[in-house]
Amino acid sequence: MVDLGATSLMRRAMELAELGRGRTSPNPVVGALVTQDGNVIAEGHHAVLGGLHAERVALESAGTAAYGSTLISTLEPCRSFGRTPPCTDAIIDAGVSKVIVGSIDPNPKVNGQSVRYLRERGIQVEIGTLASEVAEQNEAYFKHISSGLPFVYLKAAMSMDGKLSLRRGIPTRLTGQDIKAEMHVMRSSTDAILVGVETILSDNPRLSARIEGSVARQPARVILDSRCRIPMNSAVVATAEDTLTIVATTDQAAPERIQELSDRGVVVMVLDRGANGVDLKHLLTELGNKSISSLIVEGGPSVHTSFIRQGLADKFVLLCAPYLIGGDEAPNMIGGESLSRLDEAERLRFTNSRIVGADLLVEAYPAAYDPEMSEWNKLTEELALRNQDVGDIISPETTVEIQLTTTDSERD
Ligand SMILES: NC(=O)c1ccc[n+]([C@@H]2O[C@H](COP(=O)([O-])OP(=O)(O)OC[C@H]3O[C@@H](n4cnc5c(N)ncnc54)[C@H](OP(=O)(O)O)[C@@H]3O)[C@@H](O)[C@H]2O)c1
Repeated sequence: MVDLGATSLMRRAMELAELGRGRTSPNPVVGALVTQDGNVIAEGHHAVLGGLHAERVALESAGTAAYGSTLISTLEPCRSFGRTPPCTDAIIDAGVSKVIVGSIDPNPKVNGQSVRYLRERGIQVEIGTLASEVAEQNEAYFKHISSGLPFVYLKAAMSMDGKLSLRRGIPTRLTGQDIKAEMHVMRSSTDAILVGVETILSDNPRLSARIEGSVARQPARVILDSRCRIPMNSAVVATAEDTLTIVATTDQAAPERIQELSDRGVVVMVLDRGANGVDLKHLLTELGNKSISSLIVEGGPSVHTSFIRQGLADKFVLLCAPYLIGGDEAPNMIGGESLSRLDEAERLRFTNSRIVGADLLVEAYPAAYDPEMSEWNKLTEELALRNQDVGDIISPETTVEIQLTTTDSERD
Protein backbone atom coordinates (compact mmCIF):
# COMPACT_ATOMS: atom_id res chain seq x y z
CA MET A 1 0.00 0.00 0.00
CA VAL A 2 1.40 3.40 -0.94
CA ASP A 3 1.32 5.96 1.84
CA LEU A 4 0.72 9.17 -0.11
CA GLY A 5 1.70 11.23 2.92
CA ALA A 6 5.16 9.66 3.16
CA THR A 7 5.58 9.77 -0.63
CA SER A 8 4.83 13.47 -0.94
CA LEU A 9 7.01 14.25 2.07
CA MET A 10 9.84 12.27 0.47
CA ARG A 11 9.35 14.23 -2.77
CA ARG A 12 9.74 17.45 -0.79
CA ALA A 13 12.90 16.05 0.82
CA MET A 14 14.22 15.19 -2.67
CA GLU A 15 13.53 18.78 -3.78
CA LEU A 16 15.54 20.04 -0.81
CA ALA A 17 18.36 17.64 -1.68
CA GLU A 18 18.63 19.28 -5.13
CA LEU A 19 19.60 22.58 -3.47
CA GLY A 20 23.01 21.04 -2.76
CA ARG A 21 23.53 19.82 -6.34
CA GLY A 22 27.07 20.55 -7.52
CA ARG A 23 28.45 21.48 -4.10
CA THR A 24 28.52 18.19 -2.19
CA SER A 25 30.52 15.90 -4.49
CA PRO A 26 31.88 13.30 -3.87
CA ASN A 27 29.19 13.22 -1.15
CA PRO A 28 25.54 12.66 -2.14
CA VAL A 29 22.80 15.29 -2.22
CA VAL A 30 20.46 14.68 0.72
CA GLY A 31 17.29 16.36 1.98
CA ALA A 32 15.48 15.87 5.30
CA LEU A 33 12.28 16.98 7.04
CA VAL A 34 11.17 16.89 10.67
CA THR A 35 7.43 16.32 10.97
CA GLN A 36 4.88 16.17 13.80
CA ASP A 37 1.50 14.59 13.02
CA GLY A 38 2.22 14.85 9.28
CA ASN A 39 3.08 18.57 9.45
CA VAL A 40 6.55 19.73 8.45
CA ILE A 41 8.15 21.66 11.29
CA ALA A 42 11.72 21.90 9.95
CA GLU A 43 13.65 21.27 6.74
CA GLY A 44 17.30 20.74 5.90
CA HIS A 45 19.66 19.77 3.13
CA HIS A 46 23.35 18.91 2.80
CA ALA A 47 24.53 22.22 1.37
CA VAL A 48 28.25 21.75 0.84
CA LEU A 49 30.98 19.12 1.18
CA GLY A 50 32.16 19.17 4.79
CA GLY A 51 29.03 21.00 5.95
CA LEU A 52 26.34 19.61 8.25
CA HIS A 53 24.31 16.70 6.91
CA ALA A 54 20.67 17.26 6.01
CA GLU A 55 19.34 15.36 9.05
CA ARG A 56 21.37 17.49 11.49
CA VAL A 57 20.35 20.73 9.77
CA ALA A 58 16.67 19.80 10.03
CA LEU A 59 16.96 18.60 13.64
CA GLU A 60 18.89 21.71 14.74
CA SER A 61 16.26 23.87 13.08
CA ALA A 62 13.46 21.97 14.88
CA GLY A 63 15.18 22.21 18.28
CA THR A 64 13.22 20.69 21.17
CA ALA A 65 10.15 20.36 18.91
CA ALA A 66 11.89 17.35 17.35
CA TYR A 67 11.02 15.27 20.43
CA GLY A 68 8.61 12.50 19.41
CA SER A 69 8.79 13.55 15.75
CA THR A 70 9.08 11.63 12.50
CA LEU A 71 12.23 12.41 10.52
CA ILE A 72 12.14 11.93 6.75
CA SER A 73 15.49 11.59 5.01
CA THR A 74 16.16 10.76 1.36
CA LEU A 75 19.21 8.69 2.27
CA GLU A 76 20.03 6.47 5.23
CA PRO A 77 21.64 8.59 7.99
CA CYS A 78 25.38 8.15 8.62
CA ARG A 79 26.60 6.27 11.69
CA SER A 80 30.33 7.02 11.87
CA PHE A 81 32.51 10.06 12.45
CA GLY A 82 33.69 11.61 9.20
CA ARG A 83 33.87 15.30 8.41
CA THR A 84 30.87 15.65 10.76
CA PRO A 85 29.61 13.58 13.76
CA PRO A 86 27.14 10.69 13.16
CA CYS A 87 23.58 11.66 12.28
CA THR A 88 22.26 8.58 14.12
CA ASP A 89 23.45 10.20 17.41
CA ALA A 90 21.64 13.43 16.56
CA ILE A 91 18.44 11.47 15.85
CA ILE A 92 18.65 9.58 19.16
CA ASP A 93 19.61 12.70 21.17
CA ALA A 94 16.69 14.68 19.70
CA GLY A 95 14.20 11.99 20.80
CA VAL A 96 12.93 11.24 17.30
CA SER A 97 10.33 8.40 17.37
CA LYS A 98 10.31 7.33 13.76
CA VAL A 99 12.58 7.68 10.72
CA ILE A 100 11.42 7.28 7.12
CA VAL A 101 14.33 6.66 4.76
CA GLY A 102 14.29 6.64 0.95
CA SER A 103 17.23 4.37 0.17
CA ILE A 104 20.05 2.72 2.06
CA ASP A 105 23.41 4.45 1.72
CA PRO A 106 25.70 2.01 -0.12
CA ASN A 107 28.75 3.48 1.63
CA PRO A 108 30.33 0.44 3.36
CA LYS A 109 30.39 2.45 6.61
CA VAL A 110 26.58 2.75 6.46
CA ASN A 111 25.04 0.19 4.08
CA GLY A 112 21.97 -0.67 6.18
CA GLN A 113 23.82 -0.59 9.50
CA SER A 114 22.28 2.72 10.60
CA VAL A 115 18.81 1.29 10.05
CA ARG A 116 19.62 -1.63 12.34
CA TYR A 117 21.34 0.64 14.89
CA LEU A 118 18.31 2.93 15.17
CA ARG A 119 15.86 0.03 15.33
CA GLU A 120 17.91 -1.58 18.09
CA ARG A 121 17.48 1.64 20.07
CA GLY A 122 13.71 1.52 19.79
CA ILE A 123 13.31 3.96 16.91
CA GLN A 124 10.91 2.79 14.24
CA VAL A 125 12.55 2.91 10.80
CA GLU A 126 10.65 2.62 7.53
CA ILE A 127 12.76 2.29 4.43
CA GLY A 128 12.09 2.22 0.70
CA THR A 129 9.87 5.26 -0.01
CA LEU A 130 10.85 6.33 -3.55
CA ALA A 131 14.03 4.25 -3.19
CA SER A 132 14.81 3.98 -6.93
CA GLU A 133 14.22 7.70 -7.48
CA VAL A 134 16.51 8.59 -4.59
CA ALA A 135 19.18 6.24 -5.99
CA GLU A 136 18.82 7.88 -9.41
CA GLN A 137 19.08 11.32 -7.82
CA ASN A 138 22.46 10.20 -6.46
CA GLU A 139 23.50 7.90 -9.32
CA ALA A 140 27.03 9.31 -9.49
CA TYR A 141 27.55 8.91 -5.73
CA PHE A 142 26.08 5.39 -5.74
CA LYS A 143 28.39 4.26 -8.55
CA HIS A 144 31.51 5.92 -7.18
CA ILE A 145 31.08 4.70 -3.61
CA SER A 146 30.34 1.14 -4.73
CA SER A 147 32.92 0.74 -7.51
CA GLY A 148 35.46 3.52 -7.02
CA LEU A 149 34.75 4.65 -10.62
CA PRO A 150 33.10 7.85 -11.82
CA PHE A 151 29.59 7.75 -13.29
CA VAL A 152 29.97 8.43 -17.02
CA TYR A 153 27.47 10.62 -18.88
CA LEU A 154 27.90 10.55 -22.65
CA LYS A 155 26.58 13.81 -24.02
CA ALA A 156 26.35 14.58 -27.73
CA ALA A 157 24.73 17.38 -29.72
CA MET A 158 23.70 16.14 -33.14
CA SER A 159 21.29 16.52 -36.00
CA MET A 160 18.25 14.22 -36.12
CA ASP A 161 20.24 11.96 -38.47
CA GLY A 162 23.07 11.62 -35.98
CA LYS A 163 25.59 14.03 -37.56
CA LEU A 164 27.82 16.02 -35.23
CA SER A 165 28.61 18.71 -37.79
CA LEU A 166 28.58 19.60 -41.49
CA ARG A 167 31.59 18.41 -43.44
CA ARG A 168 34.52 17.47 -41.14
CA GLY A 169 36.41 20.54 -39.97
CA ILE A 170 33.52 22.98 -40.37
CA PRO A 171 32.53 24.09 -36.84
CA THR A 172 28.73 23.75 -36.64
CA ARG A 173 26.49 25.13 -33.91
CA LEU A 174 23.58 22.74 -34.04
CA THR A 175 21.62 23.29 -30.84
CA GLY A 176 20.00 26.46 -29.54
CA GLN A 177 20.67 28.69 -26.55
CA ASP A 178 18.05 27.16 -24.24
CA ILE A 179 19.55 23.69 -24.30
CA LYS A 180 23.07 25.13 -24.12
CA ALA A 181 22.14 26.95 -20.92
CA GLU A 182 20.90 23.67 -19.42
CA MET A 183 24.09 21.91 -20.41
CA HIS A 184 26.21 24.57 -18.69
CA VAL A 185 24.24 23.90 -15.49
CA MET A 186 24.93 20.18 -15.99
CA ARG A 187 28.64 20.89 -16.48
CA SER A 188 28.78 22.91 -13.27
CA SER A 189 27.23 20.08 -11.25
CA THR A 190 29.53 17.43 -12.71
CA ASP A 191 33.08 16.83 -11.51
CA ALA A 192 34.82 16.61 -14.90
CA ILE A 193 34.39 16.93 -18.69
CA LEU A 194 36.33 14.76 -21.14
CA VAL A 195 37.16 15.30 -24.83
CA GLY A 196 39.62 13.88 -27.34
CA VAL A 197 42.63 15.92 -28.43
CA GLU A 198 41.23 16.34 -31.97
CA THR A 199 38.37 18.38 -30.51
CA ILE A 200 40.92 20.64 -28.81
CA LEU A 201 42.88 20.94 -32.07
CA SER A 202 39.82 21.78 -34.19
CA ASP A 203 37.62 23.83 -31.81
CA ASN A 204 39.93 25.04 -29.01
CA PRO A 205 37.05 24.90 -26.48
CA ARG A 206 37.29 26.30 -22.95
CA LEU A 207 35.26 23.38 -21.53
CA SER A 208 34.00 25.69 -18.81
CA ALA A 209 30.59 26.09 -17.17
CA ARG A 210 29.02 29.48 -17.82
CA ILE A 211 25.78 30.35 -16.04
CA GLU A 212 24.27 33.76 -16.58
CA GLY A 213 23.95 35.76 -13.38
CA SER A 214 25.97 33.42 -11.18
CA VAL A 215 29.50 32.21 -10.58
CA ALA A 216 29.50 28.63 -11.83
CA ARG A 217 31.51 25.87 -10.19
CA GLN A 218 34.04 24.74 -12.79
CA PRO A 219 34.45 21.05 -13.64
CA ALA A 220 37.90 19.58 -14.17
CA ARG A 221 38.90 19.10 -17.84
CA VAL A 222 40.25 15.77 -19.07
CA ILE A 223 41.85 15.47 -22.52
CA LEU A 224 42.64 12.11 -24.13
CA ASP A 225 45.96 12.68 -25.86
CA SER A 226 48.27 9.66 -26.09
CA ARG A 227 51.19 11.66 -27.55
CA CYS A 228 50.70 15.05 -25.83
CA ARG A 229 49.84 16.84 -29.07
CA ILE A 230 47.76 19.43 -27.23
CA PRO A 231 48.96 22.96 -28.11
CA MET A 232 50.54 24.95 -25.27
CA ASN A 233 48.44 27.96 -26.29
CA SER A 234 45.12 26.09 -26.24
CA ALA A 235 42.41 27.58 -24.03
CA VAL A 236 42.44 24.67 -21.57
CA VAL A 237 46.23 24.70 -21.07
CA ALA A 238 46.20 28.49 -20.76
CA THR A 239 43.74 28.25 -17.83
CA ALA A 240 45.21 25.14 -16.17
CA GLU A 241 46.40 27.13 -13.16
CA ASP A 242 42.78 28.12 -12.39
CA THR A 243 40.90 24.90 -13.19
CA LEU A 244 42.12 21.34 -12.77
CA THR A 245 43.21 20.20 -16.24
CA ILE A 246 44.26 16.61 -16.80
CA VAL A 247 45.99 15.35 -19.93
CA ALA A 248 45.63 11.57 -20.10
CA THR A 249 48.56 10.29 -22.10
CA THR A 250 50.75 7.20 -22.61
CA ASP A 251 54.44 6.34 -22.83
CA GLN A 252 54.24 7.50 -26.46
CA ALA A 253 54.45 11.11 -25.26
CA ALA A 254 57.86 12.81 -25.25
CA PRO A 255 59.09 13.48 -21.67
CA GLU A 256 59.84 17.12 -22.54
CA ARG A 257 56.20 17.66 -23.66
CA ILE A 258 55.00 16.17 -20.38
CA GLN A 259 57.37 18.47 -18.48
CA GLU A 260 56.22 21.51 -20.46
CA LEU A 261 52.58 20.76 -19.68
CA SER A 262 53.35 20.14 -15.99
CA ASP A 263 55.18 23.49 -15.84
CA ARG A 264 51.97 25.16 -17.02
CA GLY A 265 49.96 23.54 -14.20
CA VAL A 266 48.50 20.65 -16.21
CA VAL A 267 48.24 17.32 -14.38
CA VAL A 268 49.65 14.73 -16.79
CA MET A 269 48.57 11.13 -16.18
CA VAL A 270 50.72 8.59 -18.00
CA LEU A 271 48.42 5.60 -18.43
CA ASP A 272 48.42 2.22 -20.13
CA ARG A 273 47.89 2.10 -23.87
CA GLY A 274 44.52 0.72 -24.95
CA ALA A 275 42.55 0.29 -28.15
CA ASN A 276 42.62 3.64 -30.04
CA GLY A 277 44.91 5.41 -27.57
CA VAL A 278 44.66 5.74 -23.82
CA ASP A 279 43.30 2.77 -21.84
CA LEU A 280 39.94 4.12 -20.69
CA LYS A 281 39.44 1.68 -17.81
CA HIS A 282 42.80 2.70 -16.38
CA LEU A 283 41.83 6.35 -16.80
CA LEU A 284 38.46 5.91 -15.05
CA THR A 285 40.16 4.13 -12.14
CA GLU A 286 42.63 7.00 -11.73
CA LEU A 287 39.89 9.66 -11.97
CA GLY A 288 37.84 7.79 -9.35
CA ASN A 289 40.90 7.70 -7.10
CA LYS A 290 41.05 11.49 -7.43
CA SER A 291 37.48 11.74 -6.05
CA ILE A 292 36.03 12.50 -9.48
CA SER A 293 32.64 10.83 -9.07
CA SER A 294 30.99 12.06 -12.28
CA LEU A 295 32.31 12.65 -15.77
CA ILE A 296 30.71 14.04 -18.93
CA VAL A 297 32.16 12.62 -22.14
CA GLU A 298 31.67 15.35 -24.75
CA GLY A 299 33.28 13.74 -27.81
CA GLY A 300 34.15 13.87 -30.61
CA PRO A 301 33.10 10.79 -32.52
CA SER A 302 36.30 8.77 -31.95
CA VAL A 303 35.94 9.22 -28.21
CA HIS A 304 32.20 8.40 -28.27
CA THR A 305 33.02 5.25 -30.23
CA SER A 306 35.61 4.10 -27.71
CA PHE A 307 33.33 4.65 -24.72
CA ILE A 308 30.28 3.05 -26.37
CA ARG A 309 32.06 0.03 -27.85
CA GLN A 310 33.67 -0.69 -24.48
CA GLY A 311 30.34 -0.30 -22.65
CA LEU A 312 31.71 2.47 -20.43
CA ALA A 313 28.84 4.99 -20.69
CA ASP A 314 26.40 4.83 -17.76
CA LYS A 315 23.88 7.32 -19.13
CA PHE A 316 23.30 9.07 -22.46
CA VAL A 317 22.26 12.69 -22.79
CA LEU A 318 21.44 13.21 -26.46
CA LEU A 319 20.69 16.69 -27.75
CA CYS A 320 18.96 16.41 -31.10
CA ALA A 321 18.79 19.56 -33.22
CA PRO A 322 15.99 19.89 -35.80
CA TYR A 323 18.17 19.26 -38.88
CA LEU A 324 18.73 16.42 -41.32
CA ILE A 325 22.27 16.98 -42.57
CA GLY A 326 23.25 13.80 -44.41
CA GLY A 327 26.44 13.48 -46.41
CA ASP A 328 29.02 10.73 -46.21
CA GLU A 329 31.74 13.08 -44.97
CA ALA A 330 29.79 14.60 -42.11
CA PRO A 331 30.96 12.94 -38.88
CA ASN A 332 28.50 10.62 -37.19
CA MET A 333 27.84 10.64 -33.45
CA ILE A 334 29.47 7.20 -33.33
CA GLY A 335 31.89 5.75 -35.88
CA GLY A 336 34.02 2.61 -35.93
CA GLU A 337 33.43 -0.63 -37.77
CA SER A 338 29.94 -1.47 -39.02
CA LEU A 339 28.19 -4.28 -37.20
CA SER A 340 26.59 -7.34 -38.75
CA ARG A 341 24.27 -8.21 -35.84
CA LEU A 342 21.86 -5.90 -34.05
CA ASP A 343 22.55 -7.56 -30.71
CA GLU A 344 26.11 -6.24 -30.95
CA ALA A 345 24.79 -2.66 -30.93
CA GLU A 346 24.44 -0.61 -27.75
CA ARG A 347 20.72 -0.81 -26.97
CA LEU A 348 19.26 2.07 -25.01
CA ARG A 349 16.37 2.37 -22.58
CA PHE A 350 14.83 5.83 -22.90
CA THR A 351 13.89 7.38 -19.58
CA ASN A 352 13.13 10.99 -20.43
CA SER A 353 12.56 13.19 -23.45
CA ARG A 354 11.49 16.78 -23.77
CA ILE A 355 11.59 19.65 -26.22
CA VAL A 356 13.89 22.46 -25.11
CA GLY A 357 13.57 25.54 -27.33
CA ALA A 358 13.71 24.06 -30.84
CA ASP A 359 15.72 20.99 -29.80
CA LEU A 360 14.90 17.56 -28.41
CA LEU A 361 16.65 16.33 -25.27
CA VAL A 362 16.67 12.55 -24.80
CA GLU A 363 18.01 10.79 -21.71
CA ALA A 364 18.69 7.06 -21.80
CA TYR A 365 20.53 4.30 -19.97
CA PRO A 366 22.18 1.27 -21.53
CA ALA A 367 19.33 -1.25 -21.72
CA ALA A 368 21.40 -3.81 -19.81
CA TYR A 369 21.38 -1.61 -16.70
CA ASP A 370 18.32 -2.11 -14.52
CA PRO A 371 18.33 -0.02 -11.32
CA GLU A 372 15.57 -2.25 -9.89
CA MET A 373 18.07 -5.11 -9.85
CA SER A 374 20.88 -3.15 -8.18
CA GLU A 375 22.35 -4.48 -4.94
CA TRP A 376 21.35 -1.39 -2.95
CA ASN A 377 17.80 -1.62 -4.22
CA LYS A 378 17.62 -5.29 -3.21
CA LEU A 379 18.96 -4.51 0.27
CA THR A 380 16.53 -1.59 0.65
CA GLU A 381 13.67 -3.94 -0.27
CA GLU A 382 14.84 -6.60 2.14
CA LEU A 383 14.98 -4.05 4.94
CA ALA A 384 11.55 -2.75 4.01
CA LEU A 385 10.05 -6.25 4.13
CA ARG A 386 11.66 -7.13 7.44
CA ASN A 387 10.87 -3.85 9.14
CA GLN A 388 10.83 -5.28 12.62
CA ASP A 389 13.56 -7.89 12.56
CA VAL A 390 16.68 -6.88 10.69
CA GLY A 391 19.37 -8.50 12.79
CA ASP A 392 19.57 -11.56 10.58
CA ILE A 393 19.36 -9.63 7.34
CA ILE A 394 22.24 -7.23 7.68
CA SER A 395 24.76 -9.90 8.41
CA PRO A 396 28.45 -9.42 7.64
CA GLU A 397 27.92 -11.84 4.71
CA THR A 398 25.39 -9.50 3.17
CA THR A 399 27.85 -6.66 3.30
CA VAL A 400 30.62 -8.75 1.73
CA GLU A 401 28.30 -10.01 -1.00
CA ILE A 402 27.63 -6.42 -2.06
CA GLN A 403 31.36 -5.94 -2.77
CA LEU A 404 31.57 -2.30 -1.90
CA THR A 405 34.88 -0.54 -2.04
CA THR A 406 35.97 2.08 0.45
CA THR A 407 37.43 5.09 -1.33
CA ASP A 408 38.60 8.51 -0.26
CA SER A 409 35.37 9.90 -1.58
CA GLU A 410 33.00 8.13 0.79
CA ARG A 411 30.24 10.08 2.46
CA ASP A 412 31.58 11.45 5.69
N1 LIG B 1 28.61 17.89 -31.72
C1 LIG B 1 29.29 17.49 -30.66
O1 LIG B 1 28.68 17.15 -29.63
C2 LIG B 1 30.80 17.45 -30.71
C3 LIG B 1 31.49 17.34 -29.50
C4 LIG B 1 32.88 17.27 -29.57
C5 LIG B 1 33.55 17.32 -30.78
N2 LIG B 1 32.86 17.46 -31.92
C6 LIG B 1 33.58 17.50 -33.20
O2 LIG B 1 34.29 16.27 -33.35
C7 LIG B 1 35.46 16.50 -34.15
C8 LIG B 1 36.64 15.80 -33.53
O3 LIG B 1 36.33 14.43 -33.37
P1 LIG B 1 37.38 13.25 -33.70
O4 LIG B 1 36.62 11.97 -33.68
O5 LIG B 1 38.14 13.60 -34.91
O6 LIG B 1 38.39 13.34 -32.50
P2 LIG B 1 38.21 13.35 -30.90
O7 LIG B 1 37.25 12.30 -30.51
O8 LIG B 1 38.00 14.74 -30.47
O9 LIG B 1 39.69 12.95 -30.48
C9 LIG B 1 40.19 11.70 -30.88
C10 LIG B 1 41.63 11.58 -30.51
O10 LIG B 1 41.74 11.39 -29.10
C11 LIG B 1 42.88 10.62 -28.84
N3 LIG B 1 42.55 9.47 -28.01
C12 LIG B 1 43.34 9.02 -27.00
N4 LIG B 1 42.82 7.93 -26.43
C13 LIG B 1 41.67 7.67 -27.09
C14 LIG B 1 40.71 6.64 -26.94
N5 LIG B 1 40.81 5.69 -26.01
N6 LIG B 1 39.67 6.64 -27.79
C15 LIG B 1 39.52 7.61 -28.71
N7 LIG B 1 40.41 8.60 -28.89
C16 LIG B 1 41.49 8.65 -28.08
C17 LIG B 1 43.40 10.10 -30.18
O11 LIG B 1 44.50 10.91 -30.56
P3 LIG B 1 45.96 10.37 -30.18
O12 LIG B 1 46.12 9.06 -30.91
O13 LIG B 1 46.88 11.42 -30.61
O14 LIG B 1 45.92 10.14 -28.71
C18 LIG B 1 42.25 10.37 -31.11
O15 LIG B 1 42.66 10.62 -32.44
C19 LIG B 1 35.63 17.99 -34.21
O16 LIG B 1 35.30 18.42 -35.52
C20 LIG B 1 34.64 18.56 -33.21
O17 LIG B 1 34.13 19.79 -33.66
C21 LIG B 1 31.49 17.53 -31.93
